[in-house]
Amino acid sequence: MIKVAPSILSADYVNLQPDIEKVDQAGAEVLHIDIMDGSFVPALSYGPGWVKAIRPITKMVLDVHMMVQNPERYVEDFAKAGADIIGVHVEATPHIHRALQMIQNAGATPEVVINPGTPVSAILPVLDMVGQVLVMTVNPGFGGQKFLQSTVSKIAELDAIKKEKGYDFDIEVDGGVNDQTVVDCAKAGATVAVAGSYVFNADDPAARIKALKDATK
Ligand code: DX5
Ligand code: ZN
Repeated sequence: MIKVAPSILSADYVNLQPDIEKVDQAGAEVLHIDIMDGSFVPALSYGPGWVKAIRPITKMVLDVHMMVQNPERYVEDFAKAGADIIGVHVEATPHIHRALQMIQNAGATPEVVINPGTPVSAILPVLDMVGQVLVMTVNPGFGGQKFLQSTVSKIAELDAIKKEKGYDFDIEVDGGVNDQTVVDCAKAGATVAVAGSYVFNADDPAARIKALKDATK
């Protein structure tokens, strides 16, 4: 059964706490927090202050997805704010190794992220440093996009490397995930599913979380 990470990008910003409590009580293990800088991706979202505000209201794992150019500038701030996992895109810095080292030194779990157009080979040299790999299943920047089926083979490729080398990182997928698309992801080896619009643009977010889990039993 897959772990579920609702993305608060699609939550109600004015009533964030009830939305977070809802998914927490529904058994979501992880809370996915999307950070966008208006440069690596066109949109802007929020910064470390949001993570700091959210930290005391939930025990869920806080998974910070940095869609930020040169993320090493901010990883310590996010760790201090209470992030458990900090994800940095390999496309966003010439110093991915250093960025991951900085996350680890700051006491958080390092995660490397790849866009749909980036091959798994681009992150091979850092796979022994990470606790999680995020395979983007849409091009990052917006919620509510269509799942890109072509990304599934990369999940399987990572899963094979994981087994061959004895690594134990989680494989997370993000973008266009619903009770249909999650099935192929889980079969290919994904262990964590981010879901934004599927969970929050629904009358009953708890039922959506259950549906993702039931589909991957
Ligand atoms: C997209 C973000 C996602 C987004 C997913 O760039 O990284 O986390 O919230 O939204 P859905 O699940 O609606 O595709
Ligand atoms: Zn995300």
